[in-house]
Amino acid sequence: MPENTEKKKVIFSGIQPTGVFTLGNYIGAIRNWGPLQDEYDCIYSIVDMHALTVKRDPVKFRQQTLEAYALILACGIDPVKSIAFIQSHNPSHAQLNWILACATQFGELSRMTQFKDKSKKHPDDVNAGLFTYPVLMAADILTYNADLVPIGADQKQHLELARNIAVRFNQRFGDTFVIPEPYIPSFGASVKSLQDPTKKMSKSDENPNACIYILDDKDTIIRKFKRAVTDSDAEVRYADGKDGINNLMTIYSCVTGKDMHEIESDFSCKGYGDFKLAVGEAVADHLEPVRTRFAELMNDKAYLKECYTDGAQRAFKLSNKIVTKVYRKVGFVDYR
Ligand code: TRP
Repeated sequence: MPENTEKKKVIFSGIQPTGVFTLGNYIGAIRNWGPLQDEYDCIYSIVDMHALTVKRDPVKFRQQTLEAYALILACGIDPVKSIAFIQSHNPSHAQLNWILACATQFGELSRMTQFKDKSKKHPDDVNAGLFTYPVLMAADILTYNADLVPIGADQKQHLELARNIAVRFNQRFGDTFVIPEPYIPSFGASVKSLQDPTKKMSKSDENPNACIYILDDKDTIIRKFKRAVTDSDAEVRYADGKDGINNLMTIYSCVTGKDMHEIESDFSCKGYGDFKLAVGEAVADHLEPVRTRFAELMNDKAYLKECYTDGAQRAFKLSNKIVTKVYRKVGFVDYR
Protein backbone atom coordinates (compact mmCIF):
# COMPACT_ATOMS: atom_id res chain seq x y z
CA MET A 1 0.00 0.00 0.00
CA PRO A 2 1.42 3.42 -0.87
CA GLU A 3 1.64 5.72 2.08
CA ASN A 4 -1.11 8.29 2.33
CA THR A 5 0.57 11.37 0.91
CA GLU A 6 -2.65 13.25 0.30
CA LYS A 7 -2.37 16.88 1.24
CA LYS A 8 -4.13 17.72 4.47
CA LYS A 9 -6.96 20.22 4.31
CA VAL A 10 -6.23 23.69 5.61
CA ILE A 11 -8.24 25.14 8.47
CA PHE A 12 -8.20 28.82 9.34
CA SER A 13 -9.88 30.45 12.29
CA GLY A 14 -9.52 33.74 14.10
CA ILE A 15 -10.51 35.12 17.46
CA GLN A 16 -10.54 38.73 18.61
CA PRO A 17 -8.38 39.80 21.55
CA THR A 18 -11.15 41.61 23.35
CA GLY A 19 -10.71 40.26 26.85
CA VAL A 20 -10.60 36.89 28.53
CA PHE A 21 -12.56 34.27 26.59
CA THR A 22 -15.84 33.09 28.01
CA LEU A 23 -16.94 29.55 28.68
CA GLY A 24 -19.08 30.08 25.56
CA ASN A 25 -16.02 30.87 23.37
CA TYR A 26 -14.25 27.92 24.96
CA ILE A 27 -16.93 25.25 24.55
CA GLY A 28 -18.26 26.57 21.24
CA ALA A 29 -14.92 27.26 19.57
CA ILE A 30 -11.43 27.17 21.09
CA ARG A 31 -11.75 23.83 22.85
CA ASN A 32 -12.46 22.25 19.47
CA TRP A 33 -9.42 23.76 17.80
CA GLY A 34 -6.89 21.53 19.58
CA PRO A 35 -8.26 18.14 18.39
CA LEU A 36 -8.29 19.34 14.76
CA GLN A 37 -4.50 19.74 14.69
CA ASP A 38 -3.69 16.14 13.80
CA GLU A 39 -6.13 15.80 10.97
CA TYR A 40 -5.68 19.22 9.35
CA ASP A 41 -3.10 21.90 8.71
CA CYS A 42 -4.39 24.45 11.18
CA ILE A 43 -3.77 28.18 11.14
CA TYR A 44 -5.07 30.11 14.15
CA SER A 45 -4.87 33.84 14.46
CA ILE A 46 -5.45 36.45 17.11
CA VAL A 47 -7.21 38.97 14.91
CA ASP A 48 -6.07 42.23 16.47
CA MET A 49 -6.78 44.22 13.30
CA HIS A 50 -10.44 43.25 13.49
CA ALA A 51 -10.55 44.38 17.12
CA LEU A 52 -9.46 47.88 16.10
CA THR A 53 -12.91 48.60 14.65
CA VAL A 54 -13.82 49.60 18.21
CA LYS A 55 -11.82 52.34 20.00
CA ARG A 56 -9.26 50.75 22.32
CA ASP A 57 -6.76 51.93 24.86
CA PRO A 58 -3.39 51.02 23.26
CA VAL A 59 -1.73 49.81 26.44
CA LYS A 60 -4.63 47.60 27.39
CA PHE A 61 -5.08 46.42 23.83
CA ARG A 62 -1.44 45.26 23.55
CA GLN A 63 -1.78 43.36 26.84
CA GLN A 64 -5.08 41.76 25.79
CA THR A 65 -3.56 40.61 22.51
CA LEU A 66 -0.68 38.90 24.31
CA GLU A 67 -3.11 37.34 26.77
CA ALA A 68 -5.34 36.08 23.98
CA TYR A 69 -2.33 34.48 22.33
CA ALA A 70 -1.26 32.84 25.59
CA LEU A 71 -4.84 31.68 26.12
CA ILE A 72 -5.13 29.80 22.85
CA LEU A 73 -1.88 27.99 23.66
CA ALA A 74 -3.17 27.27 27.17
CA CYS A 75 -6.33 25.83 25.59
CA GLY A 76 -4.37 23.28 23.60
CA ILE A 77 -3.12 24.92 20.41
CA ASP A 78 0.34 23.52 19.75
CA PRO A 79 2.46 26.28 18.16
CA VAL A 80 4.65 23.72 16.42
CA LYS A 81 1.93 21.51 14.98
CA SER A 82 -0.22 24.48 14.00
CA ILE A 83 0.54 27.99 12.88
CA ALA A 84 -0.48 30.32 15.71
CA PHE A 85 0.15 34.01 15.12
CA ILE A 86 -1.03 37.56 15.59
CA GLN A 87 -2.83 38.97 12.55
CA SER A 88 -1.04 42.35 12.39
CA HIS A 89 2.32 40.55 12.22
CA ASN A 90 1.54 39.23 8.76
CA PRO A 91 1.15 42.02 6.17
CA SER A 92 -0.60 39.73 3.67
CA HIS A 93 -3.95 40.26 5.38
CA ALA A 94 -3.89 44.01 4.81
CA GLN A 95 -2.56 43.60 1.28
CA LEU A 96 -5.24 41.19 0.17
CA ASN A 97 -7.87 43.20 2.03
CA TRP A 98 -7.53 46.09 -0.43
CA ILE A 99 -7.76 43.92 -3.52
CA LEU A 100 -10.82 42.13 -2.16
CA ALA A 101 -12.42 45.43 -1.12
CA CYS A 102 -12.29 46.42 -4.79
CA ALA A 103 -14.14 43.20 -5.60
CA THR A 104 -16.88 43.76 -3.00
CA GLN A 105 -20.00 45.82 -3.47
CA PHE A 106 -21.22 48.55 -1.13
CA GLY A 107 -24.64 46.92 -1.21
CA GLU A 108 -23.29 43.57 -0.06
CA LEU A 109 -21.57 45.09 2.95
CA SER A 110 -24.66 47.15 3.76
CA ARG A 111 -26.66 43.96 4.13
CA MET A 112 -24.38 42.43 6.78
CA THR A 113 -26.48 42.04 9.91
CA GLN A 114 -23.47 42.37 12.20
CA PHE A 115 -22.64 45.76 10.67
CA LYS A 116 -26.23 46.91 11.17
CA ASP A 117 -26.26 45.71 14.79
CA LYS A 118 -22.86 47.16 15.63
CA SER A 119 -23.54 50.53 14.06
CA LYS A 120 -26.74 50.77 16.07
CA LYS A 121 -24.80 49.89 19.22
CA HIS A 122 -22.04 52.46 18.62
CA PRO A 123 -23.75 55.24 16.64
CA ASP A 124 -20.93 57.65 17.54
CA ASP A 125 -18.28 55.55 15.80
CA VAL A 126 -19.57 53.94 12.64
CA ASN A 127 -16.10 53.85 11.08
CA ALA A 128 -15.18 52.51 7.65
CA GLY A 129 -13.32 49.61 9.29
CA LEU A 130 -16.53 48.42 10.88
CA PHE A 131 -18.15 48.52 7.45
CA THR A 132 -15.37 46.66 5.65
CA TYR A 133 -14.71 44.20 8.51
CA PRO A 134 -16.08 41.25 6.47
CA VAL A 135 -13.63 42.01 3.64
CA LEU A 136 -10.67 41.71 6.02
CA MET A 137 -12.16 38.47 7.28
CA ALA A 138 -12.37 37.21 3.69
CA ALA A 139 -8.70 38.17 3.25
CA ASP A 140 -7.78 36.22 6.41
CA ILE A 141 -9.30 33.08 4.99
CA LEU A 142 -8.46 33.41 1.30
CA THR A 143 -4.82 34.37 1.80
CA TYR A 144 -4.16 30.81 3.00
CA ASN A 145 -6.53 29.14 0.57
CA ALA A 146 -8.23 27.64 3.62
CA ASP A 147 -10.60 24.76 2.88
CA LEU A 148 -12.48 24.90 6.15
CA VAL A 149 -13.37 27.64 8.60
CA PRO A 150 -14.70 26.73 12.06
CA ILE A 151 -17.25 29.41 12.91
CA GLY A 152 -20.30 30.01 15.03
CA ALA A 153 -23.71 30.80 13.58
CA ASP A 154 -23.10 34.55 13.95
CA GLN A 155 -20.25 34.41 11.44
CA LYS A 156 -22.09 32.44 8.74
CA GLN A 157 -23.07 35.49 6.76
CA HIS A 158 -19.47 36.72 6.75
CA LEU A 159 -18.19 33.39 5.48
CA GLU A 160 -20.87 33.36 2.80
CA LEU A 161 -19.61 36.77 1.67
CA ALA A 162 -16.01 35.49 1.61
CA ARG A 163 -17.16 32.64 -0.64
CA ASN A 164 -18.98 35.04 -2.97
CA ILE A 165 -15.93 37.28 -3.23
CA ALA A 166 -13.71 34.28 -3.98
CA VAL A 167 -16.06 32.93 -6.67
CA ARG A 168 -16.33 36.35 -8.29
CA PHE A 169 -12.57 36.85 -8.28
CA ASN A 170 -12.00 33.41 -9.79
CA GLN A 171 -14.55 34.10 -12.52
CA ARG A 172 -12.90 37.37 -13.42
CA PHE A 173 -9.22 36.44 -13.15
CA GLY A 174 -9.14 32.65 -13.40
CA ASP A 175 -8.75 30.04 -10.70
CA THR A 176 -7.02 31.68 -7.74
CA PHE A 177 -8.85 31.02 -4.50
CA VAL A 178 -10.14 27.88 -2.86
CA ILE A 179 -13.81 28.36 -1.98
CA PRO A 180 -13.90 27.90 1.82
CA GLU A 181 -16.54 25.81 3.58
CA PRO A 182 -17.87 26.35 7.09
CA TYR A 183 -16.73 23.73 9.56
CA ILE A 184 -19.25 22.92 12.23
CA PRO A 185 -17.62 20.59 14.76
CA SER A 186 -19.83 17.63 15.66
CA PHE A 187 -19.14 18.13 19.34
CA GLY A 188 -19.53 21.91 19.46
CA ALA A 189 -22.29 23.42 21.53
CA SER A 190 -23.78 26.82 22.06
CA VAL A 191 -23.55 28.05 25.64
CA LYS A 192 -26.23 30.45 26.85
CA SER A 193 -26.19 33.26 29.40
CA LEU A 194 -26.54 32.05 32.99
CA GLN A 195 -28.96 34.90 33.67
CA ASP A 196 -31.03 34.75 30.49
CA PRO A 197 -30.69 31.28 28.95
CA THR A 198 -32.49 32.35 25.78
CA LYS A 199 -29.49 34.53 24.89
CA LYS A 200 -25.96 33.51 23.92
CA MET A 201 -23.33 33.81 26.69
CA SER A 202 -21.50 37.04 25.91
CA LYS A 203 -18.67 38.96 27.51
CA SER A 204 -20.50 42.18 26.75
CA ASP A 205 -23.38 41.17 29.05
CA GLU A 206 -23.95 43.83 31.71
CA ASN A 207 -24.75 41.30 34.41
CA PRO A 208 -21.42 39.87 35.67
CA ASN A 209 -23.18 36.68 36.80
CA ALA A 210 -24.32 35.90 33.25
CA CYS A 211 -20.94 34.88 31.99
CA ILE A 212 -18.08 32.59 33.08
CA TYR A 213 -14.59 33.66 32.06
CA ILE A 214 -12.17 30.81 31.53
CA LEU A 215 -9.73 32.39 34.00
CA ASP A 216 -12.31 32.84 36.78
CA ASP A 217 -11.23 31.16 40.02
CA LYS A 218 -13.10 28.20 41.45
CA ASP A 219 -15.11 30.20 44.01
CA THR A 220 -16.23 32.69 41.40
CA ILE A 221 -17.27 29.95 39.01
CA ILE A 222 -19.27 28.13 41.69
CA ARG A 223 -20.91 31.36 42.85
CA LYS A 224 -22.01 32.23 39.31
CA PHE A 225 -23.47 28.76 38.73
CA LYS A 226 -25.30 28.88 42.06
CA ARG A 227 -27.00 32.08 40.85
CA ALA A 228 -27.85 30.67 37.44
CA VAL A 229 -31.46 31.24 36.41
CA THR A 230 -33.51 28.03 36.13
CA ASP A 231 -37.24 27.23 36.14
CA SER A 232 -39.81 26.56 38.86
CA ASP A 233 -39.78 22.84 38.19
CA ALA A 234 -37.31 20.85 40.30
CA GLU A 235 -36.27 18.01 38.07
CA VAL A 236 -32.90 17.81 36.35
CA ARG A 237 -34.27 16.84 32.96
CA TYR A 238 -33.49 17.99 29.42
CA ALA A 239 -36.79 19.24 27.99
CA ASP A 240 -38.45 21.98 25.96
CA GLY A 241 -39.04 25.12 27.94
CA LYS A 242 -36.31 24.33 30.49
CA ASP A 243 -33.74 26.61 28.88
CA GLY A 244 -31.77 27.24 32.06
CA ILE A 245 -31.43 23.57 33.01
CA ASN A 246 -30.82 22.56 29.39
CA ASN A 247 -27.95 25.03 29.28
CA LEU A 248 -26.44 23.76 32.54
CA MET A 249 -26.80 20.18 31.36
CA THR A 250 -25.10 21.02 28.06
CA ILE A 251 -22.20 22.64 29.90
CA TYR A 252 -21.93 19.74 32.35
CA SER A 253 -22.03 17.25 29.51
CA CYS A 254 -19.26 19.11 27.62
CA VAL A 255 -16.87 19.17 30.58
CA THR A 256 -17.57 15.67 31.95
CA GLY A 257 -18.30 13.77 28.72
CA LYS A 258 -21.53 12.38 30.21
CA ASP A 259 -24.63 12.30 28.03
CA MET A 260 -28.00 13.74 29.00
CA HIS A 261 -29.44 10.39 30.15
CA GLU A 262 -26.53 9.74 32.46
CA ILE A 263 -26.83 13.22 33.91
CA GLU A 264 -30.58 12.79 34.44
CA SER A 265 -30.10 9.51 36.28
CA ASP A 266 -27.15 10.81 38.34
CA PHE A 267 -29.30 13.68 39.58
CA SER A 268 -32.69 11.96 39.65
CA CYS A 269 -33.08 12.28 43.42
CA LYS A 270 -31.35 15.59 43.74
CA GLY A 271 -32.48 19.17 43.39
CA TYR A 272 -31.28 22.10 41.34
CA GLY A 273 -29.01 23.29 44.16
CA ASP A 274 -26.94 20.10 44.12
CA PHE A 275 -26.82 20.10 40.35
CA LYS A 276 -25.68 23.71 40.09
CA LEU A 277 -22.90 23.02 42.57
CA ALA A 278 -21.82 19.94 40.62
CA VAL A 279 -21.74 21.91 37.36
CA GLY A 280 -19.70 24.68 39.01
CA GLU A 281 -17.18 22.22 40.41
CA ALA A 282 -16.87 20.28 37.18
CA VAL A 283 -16.31 23.46 35.15
CA ALA A 284 -13.76 24.82 37.64
CA ASP A 285 -11.83 21.53 37.68
CA HIS A 286 -11.93 21.32 33.91
CA LEU A 287 -10.54 24.86 33.54
CA GLU A 288 -7.89 24.55 36.25
CA PRO A 289 -5.10 23.30 33.90
CA VAL A 290 -5.90 26.09 31.44
CA ARG A 291 -5.48 28.67 34.22
CA THR A 292 -2.21 27.14 35.37
CA ARG A 293 -0.77 26.94 31.86
CA PHE A 294 -1.88 30.50 31.12
CA ALA A 295 -0.04 31.80 34.19
CA GLU A 296 3.12 29.92 33.22
CA LEU A 297 3.01 31.31 29.70
CA MET A 298 2.43 34.89 30.84
CA ASN A 299 5.50 34.47 33.07
CA ASP A 300 7.61 33.53 30.08
CA LYS A 301 7.24 36.39 27.61
CA ALA A 302 10.39 35.36 25.77
CA TYR A 303 8.88 31.98 24.92
CA LEU A 304 5.59 33.58 23.87
CA LYS A 305 7.47 35.96 21.59
CA GLU A 306 9.39 33.09 20.04
CA CYS A 307 6.11 31.31 19.33
CA TYR A 308 4.25 34.22 17.76
CA THR A 309 7.27 35.36 15.76
CA ASP A 310 7.74 31.89 14.34
CA GLY A 311 3.99 31.66 13.70
CA ALA A 312 3.97 34.95 11.79
CA GLN A 313 6.93 33.91 9.65
CA ARG A 314 5.38 30.59 8.75
CA ALA A 315 2.04 32.27 8.05
CA PHE A 316 3.69 34.86 5.79
CA LYS A 317 5.52 32.20 3.81
CA LEU A 318 2.19 30.65 2.87
CA SER A 319 0.12 33.78 2.41
CA ASN A 320 2.70 35.73 0.46
CA LYS A 321 2.57 33.13 -2.29
CA ILE A 322 -1.12 33.81 -2.72
CA VAL A 323 -0.70 37.59 -2.52
CA THR A 324 2.01 37.46 -5.20
CA LYS A 325 -0.26 35.40 -7.41
CA VAL A 326 -3.15 37.79 -6.87
CA TYR A 327 -0.96 40.83 -7.60
CA ARG A 328 0.02 39.27 -10.90
CA LYS A 329 -3.56 38.30 -11.77
CA VAL A 330 -4.98 41.78 -11.24
CA GLY A 331 -2.22 43.30 -13.37
CA PHE A 332 0.16 44.92 -10.89
CA VAL A 333 3.65 45.34 -12.35
CA ASP A 334 6.01 42.61 -11.19
CA TYR A 335 9.05 44.05 -9.43
CA ARG A 336 10.94 40.98 -8.30
N1 TRP B 1 -15.20 37.72 12.89
C1 TRP B 1 -14.82 36.61 13.72
C2 TRP B 1 -15.55 36.72 15.07
O1 TRP B 1 -15.78 37.80 15.54
C3 TRP B 1 -13.33 36.57 13.97
C4 TRP B 1 -12.60 36.34 12.71
C5 TRP B 1 -11.85 37.23 12.02
C6 TRP B 1 -12.56 35.12 11.98
N2 TRP B 1 -11.34 36.67 10.91
C7 TRP B 1 -11.75 35.37 10.86
C8 TRP B 1 -13.14 33.86 12.18
C9 TRP B 1 -11.51 34.38 9.91
C10 TRP B 1 -12.90 32.86 11.23
C11 TRP B 1 -12.09 33.15 10.10
O2 TRP B 1 -15.84 35.71 15.66
